[in-house]
Amino acid sequence: RHLWLIVPAAGQGKRMGADRPKQYLELAGRPILARTLTRLHQAFPEARLCLCLDPDDDWFDAQWVPFADWRRTPGGAERVDSVAGALAAIAEEAGADDLVLVHDVARPCVTVDDLHRLRDAAREAAAGAILAAPVADTMKRDDGRGHIRATEPREGLWHALTPQGFGYALLCRALEAARARGVAITDEASAVEALGLAPRLVSGRRDNLKVTHPDDLSLAGWILAGQDAPYCN
Ligand code: CTP
Ligand code: MG
Repeated sequence: RHLWLIVPAAGQGKRMGADRPKQYLELAGRPILARTLTRLHQAFPEARLCLCLDPDDDWFDAQWVPFADWRRTPGGAERVDSVAGALAAIAEEAGADDLVLVHDVARPCVTVDDLHRLRDAAREAAAGAILAAPVADTMKRDDGRGHIRATEPREGLWHALTPQGFGYALLCRALEAARARGVAITDEASAVEALGLAPRLVSGRRDNLKVTHPDDLSLAGWILAGQDAPYCN
């Protein structure tokens, strides 16, 4: 069973509102994309990488890719299209039982330990596994007009993080079905759930944040600085 890493990196970073896609902003002196790929490589040096990039991306530099075995695959309109493109690109090489981990390029703070725990769980669980963190805040649902309609019990609620890991054939089947139905999905697990399966929740660190808004940059810098030295190169 080979291990494949799919890193969707074809987003525009609209919420960040910078002069370039957010994955090319510097975090502690290196582009976010380089930091994320370095973390993944520390955890899985032997893995095969698919990096989903916008075909018109002028910012990417191949020297940021530490993997020996990697390919660039064309990103699509939505994240799910980028991931589906990567799955299609490796169809000839990938075995049905190969393990595929999908990790957002915008999550540079994921730790090697969480990556290994997720990989192990995804290998064991037939329906795959995702990193997730329990919700800490009290959750409110609005009434659409800026007032509270209800308080949602936070017990049993989780933030879905990445990586999310599944067998190659299962992930292909799930994404094909989701795209055929035309429903919007923002993570792989929801596509697998829609098949009636229940991926495993692997409790991960809460500081595996997705750099999304401008204030996330300084936060991510602090997180990296606070993590153990071996993770911070
Ligand atoms: N992504 C992708 N292809 C797309 C859209 C998103 O590969 N068509 C990737 C992003 O690069 C990111 C991940 O999916 O790694 C999660 O998406 P998000 O955090 O929403 O990033 P952006 O889409 O770039 O940001 P925004 O939504 O603010 O524009
Ligand atoms: Mg987006």
